[in-house]
Amino acid sequence: MPVYLDNAATSFPKPPGVAEAVTTAIGTIGGSPGRGAHRHARQAMSIMKECRAKAALVLGVSDPDRVIFTGNATESLNVVLKGFLRPGDRVVISGMEHNSVVRPLQRISAQGVAYVISPRGSCEEIDMAAFETMVATKPRLAVMVHASNVNGALMPVDRAAEICARHGVPLLLDAAQSAGVQPILAEARGLGMVACSGHKSLLGPAGVGLLYVRPDLEVSQLMEGGTGSRSEDFNQPEFCPDRYESGTPNLPGLAGLSAGIDFILREGLERIREHELGLATILENKLSEISGVKVLSPGVRGIGTISFVAGSMNAADIGFILDEAFEIAVRAGLHCAPLAHRTLGTFPEGTVRVSPGYSTTEEEIEYFLKSLRSILDKGRR
Ligand SMILES: Cc1ncc(COP(=O)(O)O)c(C=O)c1O
Repeated sequence: MPVYLDNAATSFPKPPGVAEAVTTAIGTIGGSPGRGAHRHARQAMSIMKECRAKAALVLGVSDPDRVIFTGNATESLNVVLKGFLRPGDRVVISGMEHNSVVRPLQRISAQGVAYVISPRGSCEEIDMAAFETMVATKPRLAVMVHASNVNGALMPVDRAAEICARHGVPLLLDAAQSAGVQPILAEARGLGMVACSGHKSLLGPAGVGLLYVRPDLEVSQLMEGGTGSRSEDFNQPEFCPDRYESGTPNLPGLAGLSAGIDFILREGLERIREHELGLATILENKLSEISGVKVLSPGVRGIGTISFVAGSMNAADIGFILDEAFEIAVRAGLHCAPLAHRTLGTFPEGTVRVSPGYSTTEEEIEYFLKSLRSILDKGRR
């Protein structure tokens, strides 16, 4: 039986209704939202509006127009990092950040934006006293991943938000992995910006992402173009979300995302989280019983993602054999997060990552464990 345990890359399978919503948007509705007054365009606009309202609910944002649609979390992060930071600015980031944060920062560091990495704590992924010391020097921005895509750690976002608020530093939260599993509470936490994937735990198709920017923060758009609004004006509209949404929107993607969020709202975020964390506990306990296997246990677990190393056996080999011989999809290596692996001490070899999703069963987890045991037994012989 094929088993998909790579939901941290993208969720699969999508819940019932998602593929149908995509197909209906392409095959029946057609039309481009905000472009034209005919029924197709109007229907398309109502799908987009509905999706925005649901996304606002998930992000904890009261005005849906503050939710910006992007292509993925990477685009959302790029908009903030390149549209907010200026030469001479400093940024504090956690040591658990993804390349979607590190690479744009690395690029703009050539233009005089400096970033510093907050160190690891003794038993947690970040030393909050050191983070506070760094934030107290009043950098222009602080960046923190909400839940790690490497070991599933839940980062101390409430404490970070409180520290940042006290020092007047906006906090950019990378919620690529957490949205759909953990409450984001953008306004309640006073977050500066939030970047999300739509295709991971929000259960939409690939090609959709979300961005929230607090109204008092000036973030420049990266692109200008047609928005379907103020067409008479040569200048880009300044209001949200049009300022950031140039070009024809991904209607099929948004229709699918809307259906994905419907599923979460119907099932309940808590129930989905309990299910995934329950599977993670089984995985962690049983993996730890296998001789030579070391699980990268997080300080506090926020999502179902588990990472482990297995003695002398290479992570990539394990991933390859799981796929080839057992039809089990996991991800091995650095997971686009070399900084997090450096912080956790697993660079450059990386780990095997197992990420169950809302539909993963205990039987699938048992099958994975049995398959892994047999791979490791053979490797020892
Ligand atoms: C923590 C984290 N941030 C950002 C991203 C980028 O997300 P996307 O693929 O939606 O661009 C990922 C994707 O794996 C991630 O895990």
